[in-house]
Amino acid sequence: MSITNIDCYSISHEKEYDLAMLDPPFDKWNEMQKIPVKAKTYVCFTNFQNRHHVQNIFGNPKFEMIWHFKDGRWVSNKMPRHTHEHILIYGELRYDAFTGEISNNRKPIKKGKGSIGRDTDLGERTYTPRERKMLNSVIEIPRNVGKELGVWGKPIDLIYPIMSWLTKENESVWDGFAGSGTFGCVAKSLSLQYDGFEIDKDTTIAANKRIEKYNQKKRGIKTLLDGW
Ligand SMILES: C[S@@+](CC[C@H](N)C(=O)[O-])C[C@H]1O[C@@H](n2cnc3c(N)ncnc32)[C@H](O)[C@@H]1O
Repeated sequence: MSITNIDCYSISHEKEYDLAMLDPPFDKWNEMQKIPVKAKTYVCFTNFQNRHHVQNIFGNPKFEMIWHFKDGRWVSNKMPRHTHEHILIYGELRYDAFTGEISNNRKPIKKGKGSIGRDTDLGERTYTPRERKMLNSVIEIPRNVGKELGVWGKPIDLIYPIMSWLTKENESVWDGFAGSGTFGCVAKSLSLQYDGFEIDKDTTIAANKRIEKYNQKKRGIKTLLDGW
């Protein structure tokens, strides 16, 4: 559960990971010559300008998500600002796209006669809707939560539902471009095995401290889930 200060392209991994998170600086996607690690599922973070580089390497995604901060983050005074980023997902999608536990506290909804297809003979009946929360393909994060994320750090509220969708406890995660260590924090709270790599030494030290200190309960990481 830590980040190594190394160029992730210089490592040759024997192992196949369950999940690889690829979040390089977006303008460096064109330098990626091949997929740097073997994994069952790949999550690639990019933007409108660079997504074609991702598709040159990986092909058409199996699933795509768009996310943005409600109050924006990437600002240009020369043109309308690009606020939305793309998340392209490849490989196996092994689990339901639900996040959070099933809630048993809700009241069943009453439905009238004939409302449920071929059960027309059954008279009025009740059913309990699926109370788990769906992960949407467009995700809005309430606001840019501050300095800790720098110019590129991903918010925990975005990453937590995605990683909890794609993994089960104890599975392995590769994070070649670890930055501020967000994926490591989430891996810690989901009890995953995490191998992070970061080329910049100071960033590595700061991110390792962040992961070590990270305590899920202190942050409102469920804010996004609760809002759904
Ligand atoms: C977009 S940031 C990652 C942000 C991170 N996911 C987070 O949420 O904080 C990209 C990071 O990749 C690092 N990086 C760039 N090239 C790298 C390489 N070849 N190997 C490892 N890290 C690299 C950069 O120093 C930068 O910190």
